[in-house]
Amino acid sequence: MDQLDKLVQTIQASRKYRHVSPALVRAVGARELAVRPRLKEAVKATKNKLHQVGGAYFEAAIDYERALTELETTTSILETLRQIMALHSSTRERLPILDEFYATTLADLPPIHTVLDLACGLNPLARPWLPLSKTTRAEPAEATCTEPAEVAVYQASDIYADMVHFLNQAMSLLGWPGQATVRDLLTDPPTESVDLALLLKAVPCLDQLDREVVPRLLDSLPAKYWLISFPVHSLGGRSKGMVETYEGRFVELMNGRNWTYQRFQFETELAFLVRTQIE
Ligand SMILES: C[S@@+](CC[C@H](N)C(=O)[O-])C[C@H]1O[C@@H](n2cnc3c(N)ncnc32)[C@H](O)[C@@H]1O
Repeated sequence: MDQLDKLVQTIQASRKYRHVSPALVRAVGARELAVRPRLKEAVKATKNKLHQVGGAYFEAAIDYERALTELETTTSILETLRQIMALHSSTRERLPILDEFYATTLADLPPIHTVLDLACGLNPLARPWLPLSKTTRAEPAEATCTEPAEVAVYQASDIYADMVHFLNQAMSLLGWPGQATVRDLLTDPPTESVDLALLLKAVPCLDQLDREVVPRLLDSLPAKYWLISFPVHSLGGRSKGMVETYEGRFVELMNGRNWTYQRFQFETELAFLVRTQIE
């Protein structure tokens, strides 16, 4: 067994990272071994990187079985969805603006039939808040979404297999058409055509892996619209200069593309709705 196989095996044996996409563990591990050949140091550096891009967003391990039971037994689906979204820092931070976030950013779009939520975290649970036509065949009574034409399909991906499994169970339970998959955007960028691609607060994480990941994604994925957002506070609560820094990064990503965009600034998030030239 070579050093890289040993590194991957060690990371996959750890409680915190055992569910992370093996492709990402291998890619990060290979880079770390290239700069620090001692296995122990490379394992530590790989774990640090995985923490920065994913692990840091969990304050505690999520009990997905319990979350699913809550969804099965609740009398208030939307309230329960909010409670579950609070278990991941990124969706929790969006809860205070959830009622306005999608309603505002997506207000002017024509009917959306397909959504691809990249590096999704628990955000697929926010589906009833997207103005997407019907969310489900059996709409929760208190859902706020607008008039249905047909049911939109919602695809999502992230690097955590346990989270993806839970999202599939939840979508199936709620009758929402769509699917979640384990996908590492560093090694496996999607290429399917979609109406709307969501890349929410993921650019800073992906940039930490490799600043070419997001430009490659924008090149490879034919989406009519992109909703791209950035946090305005760090996980530790600091916000100095973040809006300017991330806005600069967004403008850099748009350079050389003949795309137009609208900017939206919310209390906890800076968002851009991008219209590409794809019909
Ligand atoms: C800040 S969170 C954003 C989550 C979600 N988009 C939202 O806005 O609530 C960043 C997400 O990126 C995911 N992620 C990190 N690296 C990734 C990669 N290489 N490929 C796919 N997803 C990744 C993490 O697991 C995490 O869910």
